[in-house]
Amino acid sequence: MRVIVCNDYDEMSKKAASLVASQITLKPNCVLGLATGSTPIGLYDNLVEMNQNGEIDFSSVTSFNLDEYYPLSPDNDQSYRYFMNLHLFDRVNIDKERTYVPNGLAEDAEAECAEYEKKIADHGGIDLQILGIGQNGHIGFNEPDENLISVTHLTGLTDNTIEANSRFFASIDDVPKKALTMGIGSILKAKRIILLASGKSKRRVVRELLNDNITTSIPATMLKVHPDVVLICDKDAYSEMYLGVDIGGTAIKLGVIDSFNNIVYKDSIPTQKNVTAKVIADDISAACKDIAARYPIGSIGIGTPGIINFEQETVSASNLPFDNSPIVEWIREETGLPVLINNDANCAALGEAIVGEGADENDIFMVTLGTGVGGGIIINKRIYSGKKGGAGEIGHMCIEADGKPCTCGSTGCWESYASVTALIEQTKAAAEENPDSILAKVIAENGKVDGKTVFEAMDKGCEVAEKVFDKYTSYIAVGIKNIVNIFRPGAVVIAGGISVVGDRLLKPIQSKVGTDVPIKISHLKNDAGMIGAALLGKDTRVL
Ligand code: PGA
Repeated sequence: MRVIVCNDYDEMSKKAASLVASQITLKPNCVLGLATGSTPIGLYDNLVEMNQNGEIDFSSVTSFNLDEYYPLSPDNDQSYRYFMNLHLFDRVNIDKERTYVPNGLAEDAEAECAEYEKKIADHGGIDLQILGIGQNGHIGFNEPDENLISVTHLTGLTDNTIEANSRFFASIDDVPKKALTMGIGSILKAKRIILLASGKSKRRVVRELLNDNITTSIPATMLKVHPDVVLICDKDAYSEMYLGVDIGGTAIKLGVIDSFNNIVYKDSIPTQKNVTAKVIADDISAACKDIAARYPIGSIGIGTPGIINFEQETVSASNLPFDNSPIVEWIREETGLPVLINNDANCAALGEAIVGEGADENDIFMVTLGTGVGGGIIINKRIYSGKKGGAGEIGHMCIEADGKPCTCGSTGCWESYASVTALIEQTKAAAEENPDSILAKVIAENGKVDGKTVFEAMDKGCEVAEKVFDKYTSYIAVGIKNIVNIFRPGAVVIAGGISVVGDRLLKPIQSKVGTDVPIKISHLKNDAGMIGAALLGKDTRVL
């Protein structure tokens, strides 16, 4: 399916009209399949104008309409015959005798349908079919069902369609409950198809057209088997871009990914200090609104540190002014877009699982080695959040009973041994025990210890530093062995500040863990959280 995204309804209508006009120019006696509904009205207006300007000639064109309410007289102002006369046939030089609409008053509906189907075939089939799409994914009046009918038939309308179409009738009770419609097979026989979608109400269904699934519960997805379909939609209907927000203590990263998960836009704003949660949420909303004005954003995904109450959609975080703050609601209200939220480590894991080092696997475990040790579990390409969202806190897995005290109040937590904070402590302790070592000299020269110190000393041939790092990677390996034994994921991906050293960290861990489960270094680095947040709005299972 080729997709043309237009800025607005007018552009969409013009684009569609130019394709129809080319068809008429190339084959003046072509057969057009026509649709009703509010969407193609702009297309018809453009065709009328082109006809009146002498750009196109309808005199040899034949047309077949998709459907008609049943029972309903062609004279009724809600009939599709009436609609077509009003919007097109009475305004162009088409021969009305060659415009076919199923007869809504046919006594024998079945015979009418069979004859309609035959008439299309007798005319050599449809050259170009115009389609609108229902909010429920219907095309023509082929409503979602377990089985779809191939040929022109009499069908019942779903409540959803009756309600959507009631806007044209005096009351919902006046909407006919049945219709005659070309079947999915009749539509698919058309040589070429133009599908039009406009407005936010079509966003959900357009999204379904752009993945690889075909399902009778969204009949329009059947069009994916046709070799020549052009979807022309406006930005409002095209929700193929997703905005991700990764909230950090110093900066808030924002990014947009497209349907292929490419980053099409990236920016960051500072996280204001000494302000309320509402001010931070307003900053995020303003940035999101600005981005949504430029990209067809379908949803906003937020990755946040701290604890999320998924039922109430509130966040509490120690290094941010979030205290049961309803940031999802605030941002949703300001932007008018769907807003989803998850823990930042989980988002990073999702990003890595879909576009990074885990892209070939269904299940991955991501370990973030930074100030603390974080984890994210992805099962079948989706975040596993556990009960009340508490899963993945792998940093607080105990690796030594009665071991070092941890900030969480417990003892022996993995993060007290494997975080960069722990490496710094281990580096300091080793230098104090070995005051004559190269390590101690490096520290004296630098006047500080950080995560890089041990590498600097190793580069200068320091055996003490080698030992520190060897022990540190053993601690990491212990935790990863536990992960592999419990979880046996497709891959374990290591992220966090220290992962920048790459193989230097990875090789000793791989040899110490000694498993056939691939252990890899994060590929997306700082973008993983933002990409994963953006992916919250996307059904990642179908990628
Ligand atoms: P609409 O209807 O163009 O009025 O949205 C489309 C359809 O139901 O097929």
